Amino acid sequence: MNRSELLEAIDKKYQAMGQDPDVHLSGLLHSEPMKYWDFIQVDALLGLQTKRTQLPDEMVFIMYHQINELLFKMVIWEMSQISHTENITPKKFEMHLMRISRYFDMLSNSFDIMSEGMEIEQYMKFRDTLTPASGFQSAQYRKIEIASTELINLIDYRYRKTIDKNTAYEYAFENMYWQVAGIDHKTGKKNKLMENFEEKYKNELIEWMKEYNKINLWSKFKELPKEHQKNTDLINAMRHYDHTVNINWVMHHYDAAAKYLDHGKVKAEATGGSDWHKYMHPKYQKRIFFPELWNAEELNNWGITNLGGYHKIL
Ligand code: HEM
Repeated sequence: MNRSELLEAIDKKYQAMGQDPDVHLSGLLHSEPMKYWDFIQVDALLGLQTKRTQLPDEMVFIMYHQINELLFKMVIWEMSQISHTENITPKKFEMHLMRISRYFDMLSNSFDIMSEGMEIEQYMKFRDTLTPASGFQSAQYRKIEIASTELINLIDYRYRKTIDKNTAYEYAFENMYWQVAGIDHKTGKKNKLMENFEEKYKNELIEWMKEYNKINLWSKFKELPKEHQKNTDLINAMRHYDHTVNINWVMHHYDAAAKYLDHGKVKAEATGGSDWHKYMHPKYQKRIFFPELWNAEELNNWGITNLGGYHKIL
């Protein structure tokens, strides 16, 4: 666009809003030039790290969690572009999926920041100030799961037969796989971690379930014309994503937890209070977003073999 076309477009834009274009041009003349720190909101971002103890490694713990939450937000941003695009092409679907996978690869590959980047002695002290909080209470992680697949794949295996398309969202919510971690395994009652989480997020997550019921990644995939559902690049991107979240990330998380909670003679309890070995290791719950894209052997071996590598179908 040349100068006069630009001015004409500006004129049109503001006239359409019932605004005087000259006032806006004058505003432009007097406005401050943009600066990096204002655009990125650096001051606000760097003002969000508040330690609760005198232990320096607590800062590593807080900031790494914040980085995770930022990346979760980036993941949700990409997912929503798949979900809210009508008649999406396989190419666009795959592009966003690969962006999402790269974010999760980044999170998986950086988990050493947790396992190697803190002193066990410090962690064992500052974690006491966190109880009963846990990353388990990350609502964004739950949103990612819900927007990835049909709800049935997130329901605790024991209750899957009691759920169908007509089941109330509230009932589904009460039987999501993660409810197991919300039970104190000694008393059998809902623990404080879960009570707090539900008080803050239950309604929001139920709304999210409704929103993504028909536009989650799996439903969008099944909606594609049959020939596109056979597109190997897209299938590989779906498998890569499933594997990255439900095996790679989960295993890196498990290993970090084991390093701290299993290190002493007396095994430590999780801050949230779950039976965490069984809860976190993928071989037990076998959480899978897209089970139809894996063969019987791969499903059986989920979380047992195939840990390091995900292989492409040809
Ligand atoms: C030393 C580091 C970490 C340890 C020891 C740890 C430990 C645990 C444990 C034991 C649980 C099971 C629930 C419970 O009883 O609390 C859990 C769940 C969870 N944590 Fe972590 N965690 C660590 C770092 C992180 C980080 C950096 C994140 C990123 C946000 C995170 C996110 C989560 C999520 C999303 C869950 C729920 C996962 C699920 O339901 O399968 N954790 N964590």
